[in-house]
Amino acid sequence: MERHIRYSHQDNALILLDQRYLPAREDDFPCRTTQDIIYALQTMVVRGAPAIGVTAAYGCALAAREVAAEADWKTALSHRLESIAEARPTAVNLRWGVERMKKLWAANSTADRQTLAELWLQEATRIHKEDIAINTRMGAHGAAVIDDDDTVMTHCNAGALATAGYGTALGVIRGAIDAGKKNISVIANETRPFLQGARLTAYELKEDGIPVTVACDNACGLLMRRGMVQKVVVGADRIAANGDAVNKIGTYSVALLAREHGVPFYVAAPLSTIDRNTPTGDHTPIEDRTPREVTHVGDTQITPDGVPVFNFAFDATPAALIAGIITEVGILRPPYAESIARAFNDAGLE
Ligand code: MRU
Repeated sequence: MERHIRYSHQDNALILLDQRYLPAREDDFPCRTTQDIIYALQTMVVRGAPAIGVTAAYGCALAAREVAAEADWKTALSHRLESIAEARPTAVNLRWGVERMKKLWAANSTADRQTLAELWLQEATRIHKEDIAINTRMGAHGAAVIDDDDTVMTHCNAGALATAGYGTALGVIRGAIDAGKKNISVIANETRPFLQGARLTAYELKEDGIPVTVACDNACGLLMRRGMVQKVVVGADRIAANGDAVNKIGTYSVALLAREHGVPFYVAAPLSTIDRNTPTGDHTPIEDRTPREVTHVGDTQITPDGVPVFNFAFDATPAALIAGIITEVGILRPPYAESIARAFNDAGLE
């Protein structure tokens, strides 16, 4: 599935499939301005670490168009770029997308605004295509950890919808099936409160004809105890230099249960999700979202008036609970500080 992020040259707009309403409605959400992009990121019209990185990159190109009337367009543009990078705090790919644009600007510092907008649009398109290719390579590597007849549990949505296409964790499932593994099925944890598992993972796997069963988040222990889960594969929003993986709230609990029941727990993420400037998972800013996502289901309030709620959107899974980090350059194994440093070095990255 790749129709969920597309650039319309005719409308000069980034067209997003509005993930807030899936699977009930398949509405498009056109972004024409920086404000549209920030709104789409913050309200989760588009979500998932790689997908928001791609969106941020297109957002920079839209911002460059928007500052045409500003006397000091460079300062105005820098402010807009920073607002895009700050739209959500946890997934490092968002800032990564903006930083890549800033590097291109630095390398073309004499370019006029119009030329810069064109360069950025081309670069955003490149990032978009690269992400699909990276996920496909990740899936091919990850296929090695999936066996015939495995039921794979995943948490949140780390699929095509969370990326430019193919997916990270779900890319591993797709990669295993493409590699000829037989009888693979998925348990999608529903992932309260935004229900990325129930709504989005189930939606895209059903669309691809991959068997999927939705389970309540709190069924995880029972399912593992009954031997109904052979592997866990999740995505990540940021992986620290020591291998701790920050992902959707609840992932840490799934990893602890997996350890208790001897189920291998894998994280699938591109190198752009690894932030070597973040020493451990505990150094990652955790997004604290609106209480309304917890207090309401649709328009119905489910908690008493005035009772406070927690709505932390992510948690950190310690590296010690992770059997392998599946990337586009291969599967990294513990100790992660070393295998991450080696992978960056081999890939020629800083
Ligand atoms: O709040 P979200 O939906 O943006 O959170 C997404 C996740 O936690 C995903 O698991 C993660 O970004 C990996 S996506 C390939």
